[in-house]
Amino acid sequence: MTAPIRSICCIGAGYVGGPTMAVIADRCPQIQVTVVDLNAARIAAWNDADLSKLPVYEPGLDAVVGRCRGRNLHFSTEVEPAIAAADMVFLSVNTPTKTKGVGAGQASDLRWIEASARQVAACAQGHTIVVEKSTLPVRTAETVKAILSAAQGDVPGGGEPKSFAVLSNPEFLAEGTAIPDLENPDRVLIGGEDSDAIEALAGVYGQWVPQERILRTNLWSSELSKLTANAFLAQRISSINSIAALCESTGADVQEVAHAIGTDSRIGSKFLKAGPGFGGSCFQKDILNLVYLCGHYGLHEVAAYWQSVVDLNAWQQHRIARLVVQKLFGTVTGKRIAILGFAFKADTNDTREAPAIRICQDLLEEGAQLAIHDPKVPEAQMASDLGCPAEAGGWHAVASPQLAVGGADAVVILTEWQSFRELPWMELAPLMRRPAWLFDARSVADLTAARAAGLQVWRVGMG
Ligand code: UDX
Ligand code: ADP
Repeated sequence: MTAPIRSICCIGAGYVGGPTMAVIADRCPQIQVTVVDLNAARIAAWNDADLSKLPVYEPGLDAVVGRCRGRNLHFSTEVEPAIAAADMVFLSVNTPTKTKGVGAGQASDLRWIEASARQVAACAQGHTIVVEKSTLPVRTAETVKAILSAAQGDVPGGGEPKSFAVLSNPEFLAEGTAIPDLENPDRVLIGGEDSDAIEALAGVYGQWVPQERILRTNLWSSELSKLTANAFLAQRISSINSIAALCESTGADVQEVAHAIGTDSRIGSKFLKAGPGFGGSCFQKDILNLVYLCGHYGLHEVAAYWQSVVDLNAWQQHRIARLVVQKLFGTVTGKRIAILGFAFKADTNDTREAPAIRICQDLLEEGAQLAIHDPKVPEAQMASDLGCPAEAGGWHAVASPQLAVGGADAVVILTEWQSFRELPWMELAPLMRRPAWLFDARSVADLTAARAAGLQVWRVGMG
């Protein structure tokens, strides 16, 4: 019989760790949950009395944090005592794609996983269940296990000897809908070999998730399922974006095609929205991991198949930038272009791998002057992503769509924020230089209104 979990520590207070732990604390008032991070500014923001200043923007998150913080949800930079007090430690640290060394550009950089596993090995007391929450390449649990087993049996300060169990529990939440995804998941996946540990974690989720949605697998299946789920989802986006390009050349409409194929219950209607390509911290990283893994096992055709999903995504982004230049008489040098949306999707302030980055960089490269507006992304984040400061870099951030379009030859919509669906084209169009263009890469604008206001329009996938 497994003792119920009383105390959880989560290492990493990011987009995954923060919301996931907030929902666990909310649904399990009997468990003390402490989220730790080395980044003191991030922890201070999680502790900010003003809930609009949380470091992660997610609809509904402020309410959950407001209910639990100080009760059984704590944010701290004190990593060691939080590990020592925990029955269960979640590793929710960053695992970006390696930029140098073996596997550069494909494999995940596991240095933060390794460092946090070492901290757990050093500070844990008694029996500790360690849960991989970050997206990781298959067989990472082995690394974590090897580090922990070196400390197994140590008796710190005369206490109980240390022992560990390692589980994989991949996160399937999507940013922007993290809270509903966590509160009502399609499934929770727990991979591992130690059935007591698996049941202890299943007991935590079982507080609010029906048992039939808690799937149990071996460690490797769990890790590979996460990569495969993301690869399949991303593959649908590249597939529909490839068809969008064909629609534009042939006079078909990708929205009609997506609807027609999506009504086939074998295909389904979700994840068929053509756009500027997928962004976010997971899809590209996970596919590249899969490509690396396949290459490692000599499955070169399989590696090439998945690589093409990433390649098509990059192509779509460059294609949109090229198309803007081409429609503006082949040159954008010195022309002002309004960019609406910088986040990788709506309802998040996250810009990791955002399509806007590549598209803006291409336009800047062509000499355009960009006025960028995003309701949630600050200028400093844009500067870091674009790799150049505002003004000197040929761009600046503005506080409203009105300010962005003033004097612009074109407006390009790159994120599907609700507010962009309701843009007052009759008011905006006269602020622009004629002939003016609207490029709607997210299919959100009211094109009839934009045309009536005198704009020329392009929408992704509309022939
Ligand atoms: C994804 C997975 O959905 C989630 O299960 C996993 O845990 C993490 O990775 P996330 O990246 O947060 O979540 O958002 P998601 O909604 O999947 O969107 C990813 C990208 O695909 C966004 O840039 C989005 O705009 C784009 N997208 C999505 C499309 O272009 N078309 C679609 O039809 C759907
Ligand atoms: P994700 O989207 O996976 O949540 P983030 O980058 O948003 O990724 O969050 C990961 C967090 O993990 C960062 O805030 C980082 O500072 C933190 N982190 C990384 N390594 C450690 C560590 N050894 N101890 C504590 N926090 C860590």
